[in-house]
Amino acid sequence: MSSPEQQGERLGATGYLAAEGFIDDLVEEIGDVRAVHGRLVLADGPPRPAAWAANVWFDPLLIPIGSIGEAARALRAIQRNWALYSFAHHRRAALIEAKLPPVRPKPLVYPAPPPTAPLGSWTLLDPNTVLAAPRCSSPFRHGEVAFAENKTAPPNRAYLKLWEVFTRLQVRPAAGELCLDLGASPGGWSWVLHETGARVLAVDKAPLAPAIANLPRISFRRESAFALDPSEVGPVDWLFSDVICYPKRLLSLVRRWLEAGTCRRFVCTIKFQGRTDHATAREFAAIPGSQLMHLHHNKHELTWVRL
Ligand SMILES: C[S@@+](CC[C@H](N)C(=O)[O-])C[C@H]1O[C@@H](n2cnc3c(N)ncnc32)[C@H](O)[C@@H]1O
Repeated sequence: MSSPEQQGERLGATGYLAAEGFIDDLVEEIGDVRAVHGRLVLADGPPRPAAWAANVWFDPLLIPIGSIGEAARALRAIQRNWALYSFAHHRRAALIEAKLPPVRPKPLVYPAPPPTAPLGSWTLLDPNTVLAAPRCSSPFRHGEVAFAENKTAPPNRAYLKLWEVFTRLQVRPAAGELCLDLGASPGGWSWVLHETGARVLAVDKAPLAPAIANLPRISFRRESAFALDPSEVGPVDWLFSDVICYPKRLLSLVRRWLEAGTCRRFVCTIKFQGRTDHATAREFAAIPGSQLMHLHHNKHELTWVRL
């Protein structure tokens, strides 16, 4: 084994792999970038906040290579599992990849923890240059969290967002805790929360699927999430929101609950219609103790979490 520095020279930049379909959002979020290669953005200096990045490549190395064999030897010498992100030179990259130990992740069976083995990422910048990051922010290939899906119990696929949050952050409600689920219909999130043993107060203007409404620890209020008065609801352990609304409206709802001081933990989907409202996303990110991320299962949305 050799140290990464023996294989190449530090780029002095950070790599950000955009969530699929969101490269423009990522570039707007990061600001001045050095280069864009497909979905991979390189920007000078240490990591910056990058909610639209599915994976961050820390301290990538430039490795000059004379041949396919040389590239594979250099990567193997760093002793990692390697995920190839290929944006060009696909055939040459695939030939190098074929000489590396295979990475074939199986879908995760929830609630299994995320993989613990370090997973590096690499790409071919040009036929004679590998860019390789031995350390990345996500233990999943390109930040893609794939689950063995439950096709019978939940009424839709929205439950995958909560599975992903709970898996990535390794938190979930404890049995007996009270969860407010705003915009709950038809009930995918409520189903996930109920499965933890928590109690769920589901709120939506539309009804829950009957199988979800009949679960023992789920109660339902058919009304607008924005009409709820925190002091009337009383203390809750978690507030979840998947309500379809403008980001600013969600922000004022969240602020109302934060000011009330009756709920500590929040998981909310910020949904964008048309152009991304980066200014409001930054306001969410600025709330102390919060994290902002694009989940693999998010569409044109970000997930805001405060634990
Ligand atoms: C994406 S769906 C939620 C899916 C849900 N999380 C699940 O897992 O099944 C968005 C929901 O927001 C609800 N919604 C929209 N405006 C609302 C409001 N003012 N108050 C409560 N719910 C609202 C819609 O009725 C819809 O059911």
